[in-house]
Amino acid sequence: MARFLIRTYGCQMNERDSELLGCLLRDRGHLPTESEEQADVILVNTCSVRDQAERKAVGKVGLFKRLKRQKPSLVIGIIGCMAQAHGQALLDELPHVDLVVGPDQLHDIPDLVEAALQGAAAVVATAVREVIPGDLSAHAPDQVFASVAVMRGCNQFCSYCIVPQTRGRERSRPLADIVAEVEQLATRGTREVLLLGQNITAYGVAEARHEGGAGAAHPRFADLLRAVHAVPGIVRLRFTSPHIRFMDADFVDCVCSLPKVCKAFHIPVQSGSDRILQLMHRGYTAADYLRVVEAIRGRLDRVAFSTDVIVGFPTETAEDFAATRELMRRVGFDMAYIFKYSPRRGTQAADRFPDDVSAEVKLQRNQLLLEDLEGSVAARNQARVGQCIEVLVEGPSRRNAARWQGRSDTSKVVIFDPVGTLAPGALVRVTVERATAHSLFGSIVP
Ligand code: 5AD
Ligand code: SF4
Repeated sequence: MARFLIRTYGCQMNERDSELLGCLLRDRGHLPTESEEQADVILVNTCSVRDQAERKAVGKVGLFKRLKRQKPSLVIGIIGCMAQAHGQALLDELPHVDLVVGPDQLHDIPDLVEAALQGAAAVVATAVREVIPGDLSAHAPDQVFASVAVMRGCNQFCSYCIVPQTRGRERSRPLADIVAEVEQLATRGTREVLLLGQNITAYGVAEARHEGGAGAAHPRFADLLRAVHAVPGIVRLRFTSPHIRFMDADFVDCVCSLPKVCKAFHIPVQSGSDRILQLMHRGYTAADYLRVVEAIRGRLDRVAFSTDVIVGFPTETAEDFAATRELMRRVGFDMAYIFKYSPRRGTQAADRFPDDVSAEVKLQRNQLLLEDLEGSVAARNQARVGQCIEVLVEGPSRRNAARWQGRSDTSKVVIFDPVGTLAPGALVRVTVERATAHSLFGSIVP
């Protein structure tokens, strides 16, 4: 029995992978710990999307050198996207590391960890797998909210993005497996499921292409959504991330008409300038993006949009940036992640264009968008004061255990006083009395 600690950087897929890995290790009799000093095994699940994320992870692993000196039997592993992108080079740079394991080898990690605990030499395992093997249904217990990975990899090759290299080509899990996993979660008390995929709207597309001809009937994203929607006990469904190119009229109809699908959509836009979108290989224009947003708004009374934006992509002018600002103003996002462009070696953008927007200009554009956003989010939250909204109860608030918290269907944190025999997983109606930039406060409607 070993005590293990998993540190996670990056996206929700990495969070899910770490959860799955924790379950696999627990199934072998190992025990989780939160203490770096007590751990016999430390695994760092890494992200390669931006240089800053990589530097943070390398810095963290560097700090473990001291622990290893004190306890030479300590096993240290770098897993996830950085392991895939850099392989052996990580071992050369950080010789106190024992394991470098890519995202497709997740299921081999318990064996590799046990071998390392027995004193095996350092290993790099980064082979790409056509089918991800084993038990994909391992989840931490008692989760009102749970994530389910429905596909892996990405075929889009946006010019700035390293993901197609680190996570490989798109592979979708069979629909029946996903439904079985969600059914199992529901019997264990999960009420809200977040479906995950790098480009989730391409679910089943690569499989249909392989099958070809009459076999091209592999279920697609809308089929997946309808099948999971039918699972009893699940009251809310979310998904991330969709891609505008795949969001046709059927998609809009499906997400708007299925009542359990939360009316909060995270749709990465990346830029509001058509010229930059083209250089990014996004395959849509700002007008296409707005059309989808308007189509959804036209069908729903209440809906929230969130997005990802990159500022300072090569050649981005003040005019391009103004187009991004204008698009963001027109949509009125409830939330946005804003990133400064970071060249990733091996991507088309990094190979073909110099990183010619200065760090100062990137920072300035980043701050301007954040300021715009703050104003828009505050106004949107303020507009919810007086409204009665549906809240899925999570449990006692993290800040103040006397109050409880939950989430609105538009993904807002809602704080309220518990009444009666309230249990996590209950759906209640709350009248919003006060709003801040991050949360809504209110009272349960009896
Ligand atoms: N530089 C900055 N941001 C990036 N993203 C992806 N690649 C890069 C990069 N090279 C952002 C995109 C994506 C999000 C997950 O990360 O906005 O949607
Ligand atoms: Fe990267 Fe584009 Fe794929 Fe998203 S859709 S993971 S940004 S290549």
